[in-house]
Amino acid sequence: MHALGEPYPVWLSEVMLQQTTVTAVIPYYKRFLARFPSVNHIAAASLDDVMVMWSGLGYYSRARNLHTCAQQVCALGGFPQTVEELKKLPGIGAYTASAIASMAFGVSVVPVDGNVERIASRVFAIATPLPQGRNEIAKKAASLNHTAAAKQYPGDFAQALFDLGSGICTARSPSCLICPIKDECQAYSLGRVADFPQKIKKPK
Ligand code: ADE
Repeated sequence: MHALGEPYPVWLSEVMLQQTTVTAVIPYYKRFLARFPSVNHIAAASLDDVMVMWSGLGYYSRARNLHTCAQQVCALGGFPQTVEELKKLPGIGAYTASAIASMAFGVSVVPVDGNVERIASRVFAIATPLPQGRNEIAKKAASLNHTAAAKQYPGDFAQALFDLGSGICTARSPSCLICPIKDECQAYSLGRVADFPQKIKKPK
């Protein structure tokens, strides 16, 4: 595969996936692409039309930001290609900017969402509990792409990490025996995968 995605569908799907599951997103994603085949179509539509198409997905500020962002992207003549420039657009935070930069533009960055946080906290057996450990985890997660293949195909690597996090390195029942990176996982070698990410214990 090793293909770069078009920025428009990558952006659209990543914004939809910010607070919503893949299963819930798929029908909306398909309807959006059919109704708005390019970012220009969203920019040219009324906010009402976009809101109607978004209706049911929740977190409606995402739809308003989507509309404003589409207009800014059109004014710029296309999506910017760096994490820093992407972050300046409405509705695009650090995670979404990294997802678009890696998957659409081949920039070698690791998008860090909850799944990737969990993978990094296990691979590096990070002792600082969440939420304090978030910065440390993000820094370590940024180094997960240390192999030549990961650097060469940043988009595929990012997607592989999401899939590892959602399908194998899951929160409740990780499938370590079939994990492709168990040999470099410190939590696994300690036999303590279930202990990570560490959380602050609530007082009883
Ligand atoms: N969640 C957010 N982005 C995702 C992606 N690209 N694949 C799977 N789950 C995701």
